[in-house]
Amino acid sequence: MARTSDIEKAAGVLRAGGLVALPTETVYGLGANAEDPTAVSRIFQVKGRPPSHPLIVHIGGADQLDDWVEEVPATARLLAEHFWPGPLTLVLRRGRRVPLEATGGLETVAVRVPDHPVALALLSAFGGGVTAPSANRFGQVSPTTAQHVRAELGDGVDFVLDGGPCQVGVESTIVDATGEVPSILRPGGVTREDLEAVLGRPLTVHATSRVRVPGQHPSHYAPRARVVLVEPEAVVAEAELAQERGHRVGVFLPPSLTDAAVKAHAVAAVPASMNAYARGLYGLLRELDQKGCDLIFASLPAEEGLGLAIANRLRRAAGPRESA
Ligand code: TXA
Ligand code: MG
Repeated sequence: MARTSDIEKAAGVLRAGGLVALPTETVYGLGANAEDPTAVSRIFQVKGRPPSHPLIVHIGGADQLDDWVEEVPATARLLAEHFWPGPLTLVLRRGRRVPLEATGGLETVAVRVPDHPVALALLSAFGGGVTAPSANRFGQVSPTTAQHVRAELGDGVDFVLDGGPCQVGVESTIVDATGEVPSILRPGGVTREDLEAVLGRPLTVHATSRVRVPGQHPSHYAPRARVVLVEPEAVVAEAELAQERGHRVGVFLPPSLTDAAVKAHAVAAVPASMNAYARGLYGLLRELDQKGCDLIFASLPAEEGLGLAIANRLRRAAGPRESA
């Protein structure tokens, strides 16, 4: 776990234009000083991410929101006060403080206050905003431990703050709050139901937004193994068939089948609780990858509560790959 001296060191690295991997409640982020265009540009190089894809600015509290955006509509204020610190990102009109490098050239900016003591301590010690995408290579599975970050980014990051395993496990929910009617751009750690309860009206979920956002890229969150989605009752039979055909098969065994004996290369039991599933999802994908599986059979959970975000990530992990 990070100590006070680590926090000070990390804040110094940010001030000097370096990159710090930081824990959040959702996934680990690859952070830079949001107001330093050169440092922000390095994030894109290290991640291998196209520079047109916008980043999230992490700030230390809802009271700082006005420093980073042009205008805070009443709905955005309500959501910020209710859900921050927490896994909710608000897209608003870009304040002058935010360089275009951080927004991929957009006139809007994504902002959130992470709910993690180490992240909040860093933001407080640093004093400014920290732009941070998930600390993985572009298109890969997001990291939920400091070890994942070190294994994937190595020397590309100047300092890794270890805050233990992430407690939510899937990325923040992104809400476009620029207009009168907010909409969900990416399902995540704050559920649609919780947002609707606070807003007092239904929310639409936009699978694709006006901007091309990396989380919407079809093969995002993808392990090396190919993910194949089937109905829960077909998981075992399909997996065994593929195994007989010579594949190294990994199985996400649904909670209803925990006791089933499956002939497969590696089997990961899916937790029955959606909180535990979200927390473990990326770790399970990494684990089956490391065991050398080339196919992973899984089924989608019911798309309610955190199940909406889990199903979204599984679909994208199963999506078509880019050729390069
Ligand atoms: O939980 C999270 O959100 C994590 C932690 C580290 O905070 N961060 C994260 O960042 O998932 P990243 O870069 O992997 O995903 C950020 C998402 C992308 O889909 C990006 O396109 C979207 O936020 N985004 C950022 N700025 C935007 C904007 N101005 N309009 C629409 N989408 C935006
Ligand atoms: Mg990401």
